[in-house]
Amino acid sequence: MKTVRYGIIGCGMMGQEHLRNIALLPQAEVVAIYEPDAGMRALAAAMVPGAAMVDSVAAVLAVEAVNCLMIVSPNFMHLQQLEEIAAIRPLPVLCEKPLFTDPADTPRLNALRAAYPAPIWVAMEYRYMPPVAHLIAQAQAATGGVKMLTIREHRFPFLEKVGDWNRFNRNSGGTLVEKCCHFFDLMRLVAGCDPVRVMASGGQTVNHLDEVYNGEASDIWDNAYVIVDFENGMRAMLELCMFAEGSRYQEEISAVGPLGKIEALVPGPGRFWPAHLGAAPVPQVVVSPRSPAGPRVLDVPVDPSLLAAGDHNGSTFYQHRGFADVVAHGGVPEVGLADGWWAVAMGMAAQISAAEGRAIGAEELQGFAP
Ligand SMILES: NC(=O)c1ccc[n+]([C@@H]2O[C@H](COP(=O)([O-])OP(=O)(O)OC[C@H]3O[C@@H](n4cnc5c(N)ncnc54)[C@H](O)[C@@H]3O)[C@@H](O)[C@H]2O)c1
Repeated sequence: MKTVRYGIIGCGMMGQEHLRNIALLPQAEVVAIYEPDAGMRALAAAMVPGAAMVDSVAAVLAVEAVNCLMIVSPNFMHLQQLEEIAAIRPLPVLCEKPLFTDPADTPRLNALRAAYPAPIWVAMEYRYMPPVAHLIAQAQAATGGVKMLTIREHRFPFLEKVGDWNRFNRNSGGTLVEKCCHFFDLMRLVAGCDPVRVMASGGQTVNHLDEVYNGEASDIWDNAYVIVDFENGMRAMLELCMFAEGSRYQEEISAVGPLGKIEALVPGPGRFWPAHLGAAPVPQVVVSPRSPAGPRVLDVPVDPSLLAAGDHNGSTFYQHRGFADVVAHGGVPEVGLADGWWAVAMGMAAQISAAEGRAIGAEELQGFAP
């Protein structure tokens, strides 16, 4: 039997990406899955025929062979499921982002953090995309210390989800929490310190305007600008546009400092690239010193077997490799609860800033995060 044996909680689109990536790890396997939707359950069972298909979180925990957990349920369920696990059998957990969806949940998270006896790793996968990891590793040398960080995401609209949970802010936490927590995590990682001010403008402008579910209109945002000031003086900006799926690159990230600039150009999922254009673009890193001036372009290809296993440029695999290592050998998660908290807190601050037309300062940010 392999050493790392996952129980999976929720196995829709992203859960199945996790199944494909766990299958690529030599020392890991999936032994139990809880997925309430019949169609998704059938797909998951076909992918891992040896796994026990069970009907609750408690039933996953009752499978003795399970020695770690992966939560991939809808966003608003993550915290209550972590609490349930804590009460029954607190195993190491890899929990999909966002860690929570309601600012009022902070005390519950603090209680969980104080008492949970095993590692909880929050899935912030964008750090692990090879071109992004390259930018992070080279940022100091290329820039002389990052002063400005810009993340532009131009992508496809939100996909349809089981039960349409992602069509409402109350379920997802809001667009700037739901998907942009990844980018706030990257900003904080590059800055090496915490944010002190968040300002945003955003809204629902093009997508989902005519969508009504059980008599209720979708309220999910599809575009925003967010500016973040950090303790060390670094400024960061996010530009999100979710009606730009015609773009060559999905993410364009630039970091600039006194010595120069480094950029990462990251394509979206290969399955959405127009087939008539041939192969999807290869990720690139561009290093542009000020002196001597002259950009150097470097291709940073992703292993094709990892590209085939998901929509996230191989990052899901690298994240599982790190998590499985912590489960098998001990150690501290690279992305812990504090990181997960901050990423959501910054997203919540951006949602409030845009909705109320005001900047969110350090004191108010501290109210969301530890
Ligand atoms: N890290 C990333 O890049 C990334 C990408 C996509 C999704 N996600 C995250 O993964 C999670 C799942 O998203 P998805 O895109 O797979 O959505 P999805 O709707 O395809 O899958 C969610 C699944 O959870 C199941 N579910 C519903 N209630 C449940 C419960 N009580 N317990 C367990 N499972 C339950 C649903 O039946 C569904 O199959 C979300 O938190 C999302 O934010 C992360």
